[in-house]
Amino acid sequence: MKVMVGVSGGIAAYKAAEVVRALQRQALEVRVVMTEGAQKFIQPLTFAALTGHKVITSLWPTGESEDASMDASIEHIAEAQWADALVVAPATAGILAKFAHGMADDFLTTMYLATTAPVLVAPAMNVNMWEHPATQANLELLKQRGVRVIEPGSGHLACGMVGPGRLAEPEFIANAVLNALGRSHDLAGETVLITAGGTREALDPVRFLGNRSSGKMGYALAEAAQSRGAKVILISAPSALYPPAHCELVKVTTAEEMRNAVLSRMTEATLVIKSAAVADYKPSFVADQKLKRTGPLTIEFLPTEDILAEVVRQRKPGQLIVGFAAETENAQANGRAKLLRKGVDAIVVNDVSREGVGFDADLNGATFLTATTAIDFPDMPKRALADRILDEVVGLRRPQSLLVEMSSAAMSSSGTNDVSRLESSVEIDGEVFVAGPGSRRQIIFE
Ligand SMILES: Cc1cc2nc3c(=O)[nH]c(=O)nc-3n(C[C@H](O)[C@H](O)[C@H](O)COP(=O)(O)O)c2cc1C
Repeated sequence: MKVMVGVSGGIAAYKAAEVVRALQRQALEVRVVMTEGAQKFIQPLTFAALTGHKVITSLWPTGESEDASMDASIEHIAEAQWADALVVAPATAGILAKFAHGMADDFLTTMYLATTAPVLVAPAMNVNMWEHPATQANLELLKQRGVRVIEPGSGHLACGMVGPGRLAEPEFIANAVLNALGRSHDLAGETVLITAGGTREALDPVRFLGNRSSGKMGYALAEAAQSRGAKVILISAPSALYPPAHCELVKVTTAEEMRNAVLSRMTEATLVIKSAAVADYKPSFVADQKLKRTGPLTIEFLPTEDILAEVVRQRKPGQLIVGFAAETENAQANGRAKLLRKGVDAIVVNDVSREGVGFDADLNGATFLTATTAIDFPDMPKRALADRILDEVVGLRRPQSLLVEMSSAAMSSSGTNDVSRLESSVEIDGEVFVAGPGSRRQIIFE
């Protein structure tokens, strides 16, 4: 989803960069428009670098050519239509007054009038400016017109005074935007245990046998689950990443430590997602001292415990279990075999043989397999993929009969099993489920 961030000319303008980052962490596409005042406090270049897009700094054409003036003359309308939400952070007393009275004398104020998307304002100002009846009356007017006001916090302000007027925290602003966009807290009340990273098995005190997993997919899942309202326990093998805020991080190194951590915490979880790359083998013997080069070396390896199989054996009623399979050949067939062999609810199959996606990359594509469905996700940033995976996992909580009902309806009306091309929906208990949004979904009967 696409969010336009408006930055107006307050001392908190520098914090808008953090707001942009917080929105991007939620897999939202962000662009920025700055008032003239904002540009006195922070350079457009900062936002251009963060978003990878031109920052809009004026209503008027800046180029020489006729084309430039044509583009600019409709740009505020185009951007108003592009945005799924407009959030102004920080919002000055001045911008609130202009919005309240319909003054359209720059890009941001003009776009505000032109957009039909949800509008949020995060005011930040001196406490007297905030408490002034004019500011409060403007806020009241805006609220009555549906503008969501993200109330400022209280504390020491840049002007030296104490009281309300501090810009709300970036994460709080991002959450308010998610709510306005209708991204629901569909994992609220759930505890999600996620494993991430690549385990390491020691060969001697300085060497280990590891793998290429960076932990990016698991950390993205943790952040996505957390932002959808879940309590997250992230059990991580070594990774260079910072854990997402508010997740409980349990650090492990070896496959055995991973096993012990997962089994000791899984009773708390309603959903277990095993995205870590866990060693299948470990050396039968770990040298006490650093191994010296003395000619050919033969190392015997023993299989490690199958954690996923143990998790399935110990699952509690209602607990969902999702595994990951990294495959270098016959990805779907091997993934489906693993799904059936292990008895998990779903498997996310990665073809890790491709350059630039999968292991240690920012992009990933995958197939989400259940016993009856196969859903292909094209290559996309791992954070976006995390949300697509969680969409499907949440869908698994729906009655199983629903899938069959949906697919039967879809197939009989069209003669195809590609539900993404169909308009098929089923209503259960007043809730309407629509088949196949966005991805290629095949319903498979086996
Ligand atoms: C140093 C300085 C700091 C300011 N900080 C704020 C502020 O935090 N909040 C605010 O509402 N106005 C603040 N102002 C006043 C606005 O910059 C001024 O009202 C300006 O016209 C706002 O323009 P804009 O809303 O179009 O960006 C500040 C002005 C200066 C010079």
